[in-house]
Amino acid sequence: MTDAIDATDTPTPRRKPKPERTEIAGRPLKPSTLMMGHGYDPELSEGSLKAPIFLTSTFAFPSAADGKRHFEGITGKRPGGAEGLVYSRFNGPNQEILEDRLAIWDGAEDALTFSSGMTAICILMMAYVSQGDVIVHSGPLYAASEGFVAKVLAKFGVTYVDFPAGASPEEIEEVIEKAKCQAGENGGQVAMIYLESPGNPTNALVDIEAVKAARDKVLGKPCPIAIDNTFLGPLWQRPLDHGADIVAYSLTKYVGGHSDLVAGSIAGAKKWMDPVRALRNTMGGIVDPNTAWMLLRSLETVELRMQRAGENAAKVCAFLKDHPKVEGLGYLGMIEDERQQDIYDRHCLGAGSTFSVFLKGGEAECFRFLDNLTIAKLAVSLGGTETLASHPASMTHLSVPHARRQMLGISDSLVRISIGIEDADDLIADFEQALEKV
Ligand SMILES: Cc1ncc(COP(=O)(O)O)c(C=O)c1O
Repeated sequence: MTDAIDATDTPTPRRKPKPERTEIAGRPLKPSTLMMGHGYDPELSEGSLKAPIFLTSTFAFPSAADGKRHFEGITGKRPGGAEGLVYSRFNGPNQEILEDRLAIWDGAEDALTFSSGMTAICILMMAYVSQGDVIVHSGPLYAASEGFVAKVLAKFGVTYVDFPAGASPEEIEEVIEKAKCQAGENGGQVAMIYLESPGNPTNALVDIEAVKAARDKVLGKPCPIAIDNTFLGPLWQRPLDHGADIVAYSLTKYVGGHSDLVAGSIAGAKKWMDPVRALRNTMGGIVDPNTAWMLLRSLETVELRMQRAGENAAKVCAFLKDHPKVEGLGYLGMIEDERQQDIYDRHCLGAGSTFSVFLKGGEAECFRFLDNLTIAKLAVSLGGTETLASHPASMTHLSVPHARRQMLGISDSLVRISIGIEDADDLIADFEQALEKV
């Protein structure tokens, strides 16, 4: 019998992009500059200025030993993941460039992309929980995230304990203590602390720094703190700077930004990404090459789009604030609660462009307002170039039990608005005429 070929000694180096400029005049390049070319070398693709879309299910290995070596990376026999391209359920050039660029925005070591925000969130949670474990989460969460924890993971013996966004450091600590006891009784551990901040649709902020302090104090062995940063990321909040370990996104929203694709991502240190990558390799769920390419295009303008949408939202909210038919606003640029303002000042870099407006009245008044908008479209989702308005209590959060909706402030008088990049005066005129009809 002949000896097996030793794959460790015979790697064929993968053609890597040329080393690129990452700093200028002694300081690092900003993300908006890096979005134009980071991680892509035209010389590797016939000089094509933009990365081509790599539509292939599988990649040819330079040698059998390379194939073996790559599979050792895929299966975890060799640390550090695959060193080369293998099969499109695991990785691909468009996805790798996208992951490199997404990691930049959050200052993360590594990122992973998925076919939707919910695929990202579900695979993330599944990678970390086992039977008997407990998830601690903030509330409100996007309804599907909340449902995945309460209904799907429950089938596998995973329970949860939650706390309202805005809870005090003492309340957060108490909840983590409670989760620790619950896990002990169930023969498991606290497997993940999962936050959404700002929460959808109320814009309630979670004190990430207080969550980290409580986690470190109560749980000797740290479990990851993950946070859905869809509403403010990647421009207006960088949760990894404040103690989160993993940041999750629906890329469908601001990052995609044109309401023409569905995708998701997570980012963080490699040690947190590796278990999730392994499960994604098994299950699938990676973003497809075409959508990854569209996201690369979107990332080139994400800062411009978000800045303009943010400016528009500030103007629209200044108009809505004193309108006689408006009861109140859930806009981060006009916070009335002292604790929420303190969290905002520590964590946020901008007020965003998605907010809630509470109309005087209830469902009937909200429906009249929504049915009379002419520029803003009546649709769920957010973060696109166009302005959208919806009624969470009867749409995105309909599956949340009525009592819980009331507790979380998702009332029948709440309309959620995502401001786009249209002309602000046109938007204000549209809101004014729709409010007149209420
Ligand atoms: C805050 C938040 N997280 C996650 C999701 C899910 O993202 P996707 O629709 O891309 O699966 C959404 C969708 O609206 C959301 O608003």
